[in-house]
Amino acid sequence: MIPNPYKGKFICVEGLDGSGKATQGKRLFEFLKGKGLPVILTSEPTSGPIGSRIRRILKKEEPAPGAYDFQKMFSEDRKRHCKKIIIPALKSGTNVVTLRYEVSTQCYGQAFGVPEKHINIWNASVIKPDLTIIIDASAQTCLERLGKRNQSLEYFEKLDSLEKIARHYRRYGGENHGTRMIDGELSEEEVFEKVVLLANELFRWSLL
Ligand code: TYD
Repeated sequence: MIPNPYKGKFICVEGLDGSGKATQGKRLFEFLKGKGLPVILTSEPTSGPIGSRIRRILKKEEPAPGAYDFQKMFSEDRKRHCKKIIIPALKSGTNVVTLRYEVSTQCYGQAFGVPEKHINIWNASVIKPDLTIIIDASAQTCLERLGKRNQSLEYFEKLDSLEKIARHYRRYGGENHGTRMIDGELSEEEVFEKVVLLANELFRWSLL
């Protein structure tokens, strides 16, 4: 990935399905907007042509390709996301919050045997987030939360899969991977306080 050379800051919120990342990402977006900063909230898979196909596969409306080809599709979707949405925003000085990005491909891919080296190659040309926040909740907690949503469970939303993926998120959590991890078992409010702290650090305490 390429370090962000643009004026806008680029933040990614990551975590298992049901970890609370969408809630936290939306709250972070509203928080930054409330501070008067230009900001957009975006997510992967996108609503572009590849992203839409991915969504159909996740809902089991279309047969799934193997793990390797599936994660390659996510990476293709990301290239378009980066080119069409993320770079234009960052260039114009708008900050970007994305729900999921390259760390999702690393964790969901490696959990099913996709080599890290290949994922790195597929993602070589996209912009690296300035901050990646991983919300670390257990697979059990995530499944309980997903169960309350009243939607049918998607492709990866099974205990054994989520447990495998969670192990990879923990491996990716930490400053040596340029990510910061928050305990997702805490309350929504407590997690958000930590999200705000990390955002403040990134914006050099100008949000206080
Ligand atoms: P989505 O419904 O957007 O996520 P969530 O349920 O967390 O709101 O579905 C995205 C699914 O795709 C999720 O199970 C993670 C998976 N995924 C990958 O396997 N690789 C990737 O690169 C990305 C971005 C997502």
